[in-house]
Amino acid sequence: MGTVGGRSLRAGMVGTGMIFDDTYRPFFERARLEGMHGRRFGAIEVPLVAVASRTGKRAEAYRSAAGDRIGAFESFSGEDALDRLLGAGVDFVCVATPDDRHFAAARKVLAAGKHLLVEKPSVLSLQELDELERLAKEKGVLAKVVYHKLLDPDHKKLRTLVADGLLRHANSGYCSLLEPRQVSGSQFAEWITGRNPGTYVAVHYIKLIDFTFGGRLKTVACTGQRGIVGASGGTTWDSTQLRLIYDRGDGREAAFDIHTSWVTPDNFPGYVEQEVQFRFDNGVWNAHGRRRGVECTIEGKTPVEVKISMNNHYSATCLEPWGERSRRGYGVEAIERFVREVATVEFGGPADGRPGRLAEIRALAYDDICADRQTVAAVHAMEAILARHAAGEPDCVARVNHDGRGLALLRPGDGGVDVLYEGTV
Ligand SMILES: NC(=O)c1ccc[n+]([C@@H]2O[C@H](COP(=O)([O-])OP(=O)(O)OC[C@H]3O[C@@H](n4cnc5c(N)ncnc54)[C@H](O)[C@@H]3O)[C@@H](O)[C@H]2O)c1
Repeated sequence: MGTVGGRSLRAGMVGTGMIFDDTYRPFFERARLEGMHGRRFGAIEVPLVAVASRTGKRAEAYRSAAGDRIGAFESFSGEDALDRLLGAGVDFVCVATPDDRHFAAARKVLAAGKHLLVEKPSVLSLQELDELERLAKEKGVLAKVVYHKLLDPDHKKLRTLVADGLLRHANSGYCSLLEPRQVSGSQFAEWITGRNPGTYVAVHYIKLIDFTFGGRLKTVACTGQRGIVGASGGTTWDSTQLRLIYDRGDGREAAFDIHTSWVTPDNFPGYVEQEVQFRFDNGVWNAHGRRRGVECTIEGKTPVEVKISMNNHYSATCLEPWGERSRRGYGVEAIERFVREVATVEFGGPADGRPGRLAEIRALAYDDICADRQTVAAVHAMEAILARHAAGEPDCVARVNHDGRGLALLRPGDGGVDVLYEGTV
């Protein structure tokens, strides 16, 4: 394969916003300090060589704040930023743009024959997913998605209990993830118009449920509220309630409700408020972000500037016992895992074994785009249901692989059926 010149994997980054700061930046800085090593692929360098963003301002702020913690990188902005990044000799590209801009960037990355890591949700429709799958196969590269909640140690434990049969047959459950108002009001102000918090964060739990419990997604329903971020009759949503129904393949069903918001008051105790309950034939799993262990109050700082409950498993800034400052957690681990997967494909054995290694890494369902079909179907359905709702027709329901259609939107009363996707999900 022509893109990898030596024992380095040269990285490109599209989008330098909040998630870049939380997870990509610590990964690249650690890689610059220590390189990366694995028994299968040896020692490699992983330099960040180029970034592309809308204005370039945050990239420049990062360059000056990071100093020599990061090497020299080019920063491109404006309309042709990604084309210039792709011409800068990168081997893989991470896409962390707003969710409705993933597809355009991801398609270009794959068409250029570069490995892709795209933030969740991968894309917003099954047609887009088909196109990315096709390009990744044609170009012989990886196309992977970041669902870092799958790497949360608590979720690994949940999956282990399910895989080992200790928790049997998930029947129902709820998940709630509430973001502070500052996320919709200032952090995402540039791109929030016409968007919803379900696609942004419910997707974490869609993937967790899909990956952990399995089964065939049958039905998707969704409603939501408006009037705080945008007009009460508009297309920008404050909060959403999604319901997924699964066929478990044994004549039984399971249903999950996922509630999300990005208008929760800024002074609540955590960065996000998260809670889940999953009910099984023989058990119940309860988890709450504020019951993970730590609560800390600092006069004059908590709960706005510093939060009372912190998730030190995700991306914690720490002073290590040996004196070093670090940022670690499962958010960073997700990026590192992807780079290890690329390194395994490119350097994990002789050149003629590359197709076999590519197939091996593609088979990893937790992050491969080929295994994202039901999650994208749920997102596609949610987007369509909310769009109909905003157009004055609430309460549509989507059916998956039903009556010869991959994804069909059933309109209430005798409103008929909109086919969202013809192929099989
Ligand atoms: N894994 C997670 O838990 C997690 C958490 C937060 C965000 N995210 C995801 O990361 C993505 C970005 O979120 P964020 O919080 O960093 O958003 P943000 O608004 O803070 O940053 C977005 C970045 O994308 C850039 N951008 C926008 N349009 C672009 C374009 N057309 N071409 C190139 N760059 C463009 C902006 O300049 C900015 O640098 C979203 O898909 C979001 O869902 C994931």
